[in-house]
Amino acid sequence: MIVLALETSCDDTCAAVTDDARILSNVISSQAAAHARYGGVVPEVASRHHLELINPVVDAALGEAGVELIDVDAVAVTREPGLIGALLVGVATAKGLAAPLRKPLVGVNHLQGHVAANFLEPDPLEPPFLCLIASGGHTLLAGVTSHDSFEVLGQTLDDAAGEALDKGARLLGLGYPGGPAIQGEAEGGDPAAFDFPVAMTRDPGLDFSFSGLKTALLYATRALGEGELERRRADLAASYQAAVVGQLVAKLERAVGPGDWDAVALGGGVAANTLLRERTAALCEARGLRLKLVPGELCTDNAAMIASAARFEEPAPYPEYLGWTATA
Ligand code: KG4
Ligand code: ZN
Repeated sequence: MIVLALETSCDDTCAAVTDDARILSNVISSQAAAHARYGGVVPEVASRHHLELINPVVDAALGEAGVELIDVDAVAVTREPGLIGALLVGVATAKGLAAPLRKPLVGVNHLQGHVAANFLEPDPLEPPFLCLIASGGHTLLAGVTSHDSFEVLGQTLDDAAGEALDKGARLLGLGYPGGPAIQGEAEGGDPAAFDFPVAMTRDPGLDFSFSGLKTALLYATRALGEGELERRRADLAASYQAAVVGQLVAKLERAVGPGDWDAVALGGGVAANTLLRERTAALCEARGLRLKLVPGELCTDNAAMIASAARFEEPAPYPEYLGWTATA
């Protein structure tokens, strides 16, 4: 089955073509540069960029795949959750592509998309598995027992892990997006230099919290002052990254528990983080668990994962989807 998928829930304009579990093209136009000067995603800016970029991105995805729109079996699109204006651009475009050719349309949940990135070639992972999704908007532990749904075992009570990294980077005067910036800065730093709290580890559940950590970083930077902050930036970045990753891994470790799962997957932009990957790999090795790490471009937002999720959803035939909207 050939699927053309669109993903515009946040600040990446994405289109992809898949043939069953095989990726034929996966085009991502990042708007990061447009948002960088604001230090975070501005919804209105994202929406307007999606409007400009979506058609060239769709054309590039079809072109790279060597597929004509007429040959597509279904169009898929992220319907929820995300920035409402951004989502609407994707949904309207998908309807506009599918309807004239009477193609079916599949509406996909963005988080289900992150889970479904693991179902793609090469080496697809079959349920059941435990999936940690950590991105700029979400942090959750998903128990995946089928291809089309997951159970939320734990989630963040305040900021998302990626959001904590983005806000931390801003406090440290590093660029946007913050995750890669902090990771780069941390390379020259000592992760034990500052004692940031690894929150929620005494709490018995599987939920996360990152807002206290961000406040701890704010106080640490204030206590140091401008000149000293400059000198200690790498140590601050390394210690902060270690605290964010430390909480993610602590909860993952608790979730794998006494042999409840035998495979673990990581998803979302923060899953591109090297320290998180290394520490998760070490945990899985110690527990004898299979670890599935998709490449970085399938961790951050992309449309191949939306196409992957769409294969396991019931497509809506024309004209059923004409009234579809999106949900923030
Ligand atoms: O999944 P994603 O592309 O978009 C959302 O759905 O939010 O995730 C973006 C987030 C940002 O917060 C970014 O700082 C973070 O993922 N991120 C990273 C890395 N690359 C991206 N965080 C840590 N280390 C990275 N290498
Ligand atoms: Zn995402």
